[in-house]
Amino acid sequence: MILTVTLNPSVDHALFVDGLKLCDTNRVLRTEVDAGGKGVNLSRVAVEMGAMSVATGFLGGGNAGFIRKVLVRQHVLHDFVDVHGETRTNFSVEDGTGAPPTTFNERGPTISEDEYERLIEKLDHYAPRAAWVAFGGSIPQGLQAETYRDLVRRVRKHGARVVLDADGDPMRFGIEARPDFIKPNAREAERLLGLTTTIPDLASAVEAARRLQVQTEGLVVISCGEQGAVAVDRDGSAWSGESPRVEVRSTIGSGDSLIAGMLAAFEAGRGFPEALAWGIAAGAATATTDGSEIGRKPTIDALLPSVRVTEATPLPPR
Ligand SMILES: Nc1ncnc2c1ncn2[C@@H]1O[C@H](COP(=O)(O)OP(=O)(O)OP(=O)(O)O)[C@@H](O)[C@H]1O
Ligand SMILES: [Mg+2]
Repeated sequence: MILTVTLNPSVDHALFVDGLKLCDTNRVLRTEVDAGGKGVNLSRVAVEMGAMSVATGFLGGGNAGFIRKVLVRQHVLHDFVDVHGETRTNFSVEDGTGAPPTTFNERGPTISEDEYERLIEKLDHYAPRAAWVAFGGSIPQGLQAETYRDLVRRVRKHGARVVLDADGDPMRFGIEARPDFIKPNAREAERLLGLTTTIPDLASAVEAARRLQVQTEGLVVISCGEQGAVAVDRDGSAWSGESPRVEVRSTIGSGDSLIAGMLAAFEAGRGFPEALAWGIAAGAATATTDGSEIGRKPTIDALLPSVRVTEATPLPPR
């Protein structure tokens, strides 16, 4: 079972307009509403790929019911802490030019000490039954930047393996707890390593992943958008996977789908290179869907044969 923890989930509204006009009235051609948040996405894709998943975190107000309904429809088990505040709404506006959407993200509710304690009780209940616990996304108001570090330590004591996907300080602190698996994208990896140059290609991403792997001692995957993703495992073996070319609509949730595909493969008893291929196919499938919609199994299955994963050889010593 894969337990996902979303501390600040959302209801995502994608608005489609024909040219975005600032300081003016815009006619909305179509609106799509979906459940969002890293763990929520991850659970949905993992179940789509045959794994069992329980989603937890914080939910409150009218949006809570909507998110629960989406999860039920997609056969994701869920057990969230009910909070006093209202789960946030995020808006994205797609202007029809193919440019990335303009997004408006609310901050979400402030979490009280009592609500945080109730989440810990849920983690203590589910973590011993979980092969993997996935933490990801922003930390809500009321909780510290160190939250992931503390939660990762806590669930690892129950013997669960942990994957962490966050940015900035929450990720930096989280890494101190040595998560079994981290998945920064290329930009996040540059920030984590303090690089002043960008990671331009998969070969450079492998080197960056090797450096991060020394810090975490776990599996490190760096995702590189349309190029694909690389993985360095705890034994130092390195893999590089090219993403298939797809007609891109929205890459929101592609990173979560990559993790979901890999965990679903591990749950099905697969190792490398299949796990990376499953992840890349899931990420690419999600890139073909609108807004925060996720890739579905038929698309993932169709893309899988065109994912190329090869073992990366280490660079000669300098
Ligand atoms: N444009 C694309 N074409 C094909 N595959 C893609 C594309 N964008 C993403 N993918 C696939 O999805 C994976 C994850 O995407 P990406 O690197 O964009 O993650 P991310 O930046 O963490 O995304 P997010 O945090 O929004 O979920 C990539 O490794 C790739 O396999
Ligand atoms: Mg991401």
